[in-house]
Amino acid sequence: MSEHYFSSSPSAARAPRTVRLALRDVQVGLATDTGVFSPAAIDAGTLVLLETVPSPPAAGDLLDLGCGYGPITVALAHRAPGATVWGVDVNERARELARANTASLPNVRIEGPDGVPADTGFAAIWSNPPIKVGKGVLHEMMRRWLPRLAPGGVAYLVVQRHLGADSLHRWLEAEGFPTERLASRKGYRILAVRGNE
Ligand SMILES: C[S@@+](CC[C@H](N)C(=O)[O-])C[C@H]1O[C@@H](n2cnc3c(N)ncnc32)[C@H](O)[C@@H]1O
Repeated sequence: MSEHYFSSSPSAARAPRTVRLALRDVQVGLATDTGVFSPAAIDAGTLVLLETVPSPPAAGDLLDLGCGYGPITVALAHRAPGATVWGVDVNERARELARANTASLPNVRIEGPDGVPADTGFAAIWSNPPIKVGKGVLHEMMRRWLPRLAPGGVAYLVVQRHLGADSLHRWLEAEGFPTERLASRKGYRILAVRGNE
């Protein structure tokens, strides 16, 4: 039976492999497997996010919401070695891979959604959110995590134009999350959502 990458406990037979994250500033091999998002190569939207968004805050807590096997978490941890980077995912196989891929990075914590202390506020959120979970779950995720942006913090979301980037943009505005389109590249939008000033 086919399985979604956002299953909490994927059962697909393992097929471990390594993919290359090759950015201007970070070049590293990452372990991937079946049952997680984009196991054969770094996702094109993730690359657009990592090549477009300005440098993260140097300190504080940073969140990669829906970290998968960890490409965004790894880039954040390299770019902000003085910050604590939280990689959060519901998929336990993804968390296991993300832990392995960040084992040498002392400033990373990989957790399920309930593993982040409730009083942790985020100086920035970077996310390639799980659009295919459906609007109900996606909107719940936004309502749960965006209010946890620290004052002045920004959440950067990459969403494929054809998978509803503009409708998510409108929904965020309607919910009272001030949002602008930071960039539009290769069929992806980068949405920048402002926290409270
Ligand atoms: C589009 S993938 C991005 C993965 C990774 N950040 C990357 O760039 O390759 C979205 C991720 O969100 C995770 N996810 C789905 N529902 C979630 C939820 N409610 N809370 C946290 N993560 C969730 C999925 O398991 C998946 O790994």
